[in-house]
Amino acid sequence: MKNQLLIVGASQILTLQGPGRVRRGPEMRRLSILGPNAAVLIEGGLIAAAGAYRQIRRMARRARVLELQGGVLMPGFVDAHTHPVFAGPRLRDFSLRTSGLGYRAVSRRTGGIWSTVGGVRRAEPGQLAELLGQRARLFLEAGTTTIEAKSGYGLDLENELKILEVIGRVGRRGPLEIIPTFLGAHAPPPGGHRQAYVRLLIEKMIPAVCGKKLARFIDVFCERGYFSVKESEKILRAGLAAGLAPRLHAEQLSRLGGARLAAKLGAASADHLDHAAPGDMTALSRAGTAAVLAPASNYFLGARSWPPARALIDAGVPVCLASDFNPGSAPVWNMQFVMSVACTQMRMSPEEAVTAATVNGAYCLGEGRRLGSLEPGKQADLAHMDVDDYREIPYYFGVNHCRMTIKRGNIVYIKR
Ligand code: NIG
Ligand code: FE
Repeated sequence: MKNQLLIVGASQILTLQGPGRVRRGPEMRRLSILGPNAAVLIEGGLIAAAGAYRQIRRMARRARVLELQGGVLMPGFVDAHTHPVFAGPRLRDFSLRTSGLGYRAVSRRTGGIWSTVGGVRRAEPGQLAELLGQRARLFLEAGTTTIEAKSGYGLDLENELKILEVIGRVGRRGPLEIIPTFLGAHAPPPGGHRQAYVRLLIEKMIPAVCGKKLARFIDVFCERGYFSVKESEKILRAGLAAGLAPRLHAEQLSRLGGARLAAKLGAASADHLDHAAPGDMTALSRAGTAAVLAPASNYFLGARSWPPARALIDAGVPVCLASDFNPGSAPVWNMQFVMSVACTQMRMSPEEAVTAATVNGAYCLGEGRRLGSLEPGKQADLAHMDVDDYREIPYYFGVNHCRMTIKRGNIVYIKR
């Protein structure tokens, strides 16, 4: 007989029950909220029911009962863009940034992405796994139950494989679920040899990653000084042919054409999009490519502008929010903070922010049928927030509201 857990007593349950696909436009405002006399029944690690307590009670005779005494119960966050495998912080970058330098200027001084590569290459896989495991705990403690994780700080065959193996190992161990993306095209080697590196990516790295089944997606940092649109297309097509679905860092620091490329390839997502133009948004909408917005990086880099969430939502592009957790531009794992920035700086409504941080993230990772909402049959991944109303999550900012996290029906974190 399967284990039953009945959760009662929440002041609100955000089910995000919906149309069984990614949410666009006004659909992003519908959270399908159940009132205080509702319950969630979990059975065998899956959601069995979410609804009025009086109705669910009958299905839950064998259930262990968890009485919450208030709070908001919602799907765990699905963070669709992170770079979590690195050895240490970039504090020199940080100090330079506080003196007023921008991302490119700091990178020129310190090496930027390449300064993180050194530490990762020197680290043993066991050390990296230990660090990733510690970070996985932090994600869980902030209510995130699934992340996408990119490689990209190895930048040679051996070290990119090392990172992806670490991601695989930590993800299999759980409880945080980790969906791996190959980002060998994060930065070209300093001092030229770009063509040789693109060739290495296509001829050696992609086949090795696929041969070992180490990634589901392939990503490229399509940006001036990193990879051109042409190079990005070559790399993504090679990945696609080998079975990796494309996603793309596009129009983050300048408008280069990555968004159009993402649409042309039917990519799972185009990420950042700070400099996307209206026509780019139409193209993404038509292609069904999601926009993964990462405003914590704007915050951290001291940008004066923000990802164009309103225009994207109005254009019908499915919008997701992600932390972009990484040591260079977004050392943050807390999606509650990301939601707050989205509401205060990008004029997303709290409802849109919740949708973007949960169910839309799940669809954009190809896991929408299994994750992201509290609907019967989906995996029981939940966060319990210490607030009476979900709008308080982005409202009281800079703190962790998460009181309990449940992954696959098991309590994996409780605030002491
Ligand atoms: O998403 N854009 C590329 N990657 C990161 C920055 C990585 C780094 O600086 O280490 C980003 O912002
Ligand atoms: Fe990124």
